[in-house]
Amino acid sequence: MKIIKDALTFDDVLLIPKVSKVNSRWQVDTSTYLTDKIKLNIPLVSSNMDTVTEHIMAIALAKAGGAGIIHRFNSIENEVSEIIKVKREQNIVIEKPYVIGKETSIGKLREMSLEKKVSSFPVLDREKLVGIITRRDFEFEEDMNKKVEDLMTKDVITSHKGISLEEAKGIMRKNKIEKLPLVDREGRLTGMITSRDVKLLDGYSKASKDKNGRLVVGGSIGIGSDHLERAKALIDAEADFIVVDVANGYLEKTADVVREIKKLGAEVIAGNVATKDGVLNLKKAGVDCVKVGIGPGGACLTRPVAGVGYPQLSSIIECAGNDVRIMADGGIIKSADFSKAIAAGADSVMIGGLFAGTDESPGVIITKENINYKFYRGMASVNAFSDRSLKTDEAADLEGYTPEGTETLIQYKGSVVKIVNNLLGGLRSAMTYLNAANLKDFKKNAEFVVLTEAGKRESKYKI
Ligand code: XMP
Repeated sequence: MKIIKDALTFDDVLLIPKVSKVNSRWQVDTSTYLTDKIKLNIPLVSSNMDTVTEHIMAIALAKAGGAGIIHRFNSIENEVSEIIKVKREQNIVIEKPYVIGKETSIGKLREMSLEKKVSSFPVLDREKLVGIITRRDFEFEEDMNKKVEDLMTKDVITSHKGISLEEAKGIMRKNKIEKLPLVDREGRLTGMITSRDVKLLDGYSKASKDKNGRLVVGGSIGIGSDHLERAKALIDAEADFIVVDVANGYLEKTADVVREIKKLGAEVIAGNVATKDGVLNLKKAGVDCVKVGIGPGGACLTRPVAGVGYPQLSSIIECAGNDVRIMADGGIIKSADFSKAIAAGADSVMIGGLFAGTDESPGVIITKENINYKFYRGMASVNAFSDRSLKTDEAADLEGYTPEGTETLIQYKGSVVKIVNNLLGGLRSAMTYLNAANLKDFKKNAEFVVLTEAGKRESKYKI
C-alpha cells in the first residue's frame, strides 16, 4: 500500500494575476484544437449524455464555435439520424433542388415557382443539366405556352460535389452568379449551392464547420457488442469524430476499440482516465484526444461507490503535456472552474450538468410548485441503465447492478447560449489577468496558488 501524493481540485486554487498587455477581453483568441485536425473557436464540448446532447444541443454548440457529442443510449439508427440533422443544418449544398424539365411550359413553371416559393430552377433533359432558369428570365414573359428551353440560360457555370465553401464563394463572386449547380462527370445534376445559403453560413463566422461548411458534430460508441457497427454507421453519416465513451478508460478493451476505430480512418477521442499512465496507454493505441476525469461529474457516484478517482485539477495537470490533446470532462459548475481547467492544460472542456435543463437539452419541462425543471441523469444511473436495454440491444441485469450515477431535476435555465457566454466571459477575463492573448499563452503563464480554508472562504468557495 502506498499513498502517492496530495491532489487538488478547482476550488483548492486560484490563478495568480500577471502584469498584462492584454487590455481588453475582446482582444483574446479562445480558439483551440479538439484533435490535431479539428479546430474549435471556443474550447467547449457538450457531454454525450441522453439528458444533454441530441441534435438541438449539438447545433447550438457548433454555432457558438464548440461542438456537441450525440449520446449512444439509443439505437444506431437514432444516433445516425441525430448526426444527419446536425450535418444538414447548415449545408451549403442543396442535395435535391427543385428541378424543371426543358419542355415544361412557362405557365407551369410560374405555378411551380409560386407553389414551391423558389425563384430559379436547374433545367433537366432527363437527368442531365441543360440550363438554368431564374425569375428574371420568365417574370415578364406573356406567352404562357413558351417552353422553359426557349428562355433559359444555356451556358451554365457548374461545379462538382465536394467543392469547398471558399471555392464555391470564389466561383460565384467571379461570375456574379447566385446559383451554382453541381454535376457529375456525365453532366447529371448532383446538387446546387445558392448565395443565400452561403451568406447565411457566413453569419455564423465563429461556428465550427467541416471542409464543406457544415457544422461539426461527434458521435459516440461504447465497447459493447454493437460498437463497430455503430462506428461505421456514424462515419457513413459523416460524424466528424467518434468518442469511445467508457467510464473506465484503463480497460484493455478501451484501447483495443480505439485501435479498431482508428483503422476506419476516423478521428477518435477516448477515455476516461485520470493519470499520465492512462493517457499514454490510449496514446499508444492511436487516440487523437484523451478524455480526462474519473468521478468529478455532477451526477457521478464512482468516487463514493468504488472509492476510485483523482481530484480533477491535478488530474488535468498530470494528463496534459504528454503530446496528445486532452479534454477535461466533468465537475465544471462555474466559469472559474472552466478557466482553471484550460489553464491547467486542457485543450477542451466537456460539460454535462451545466448544459442540462436548458432549451437545447433533450426532454420536457416539468413544473413542480410553480418552478420549472428538466431531468438530468448520470449515464450509469439505475434508470439510464434500464432504459438502455429498451433502446439498444444491450441486456440489463438490474439485480446485479450497482449504480454509479444519480438522477436529479435541474431548474430550467433558458437557452444554453447564455451559459456558454457566461463561461466564455470568465475565461476571457482570466486571460486578460494572465497577460494571455491566446490559450497557448494562457497555459504557459498559468500559476496556481493553493488556498487555505480562510482563503476559500474569502474566495466565496464552499468549505
Ligand atoms: P458534469 O459535472 O459536467 O459531468 O455534469 C459530466 C460528465 O460526467 C460523466 N458521467 C458520469 N460519471 N457516473 C459517473 O461516474 C455516471 O452515471 C455518469 N454519467 C456521466 C461523463 O463523463 C460526463 O461527461
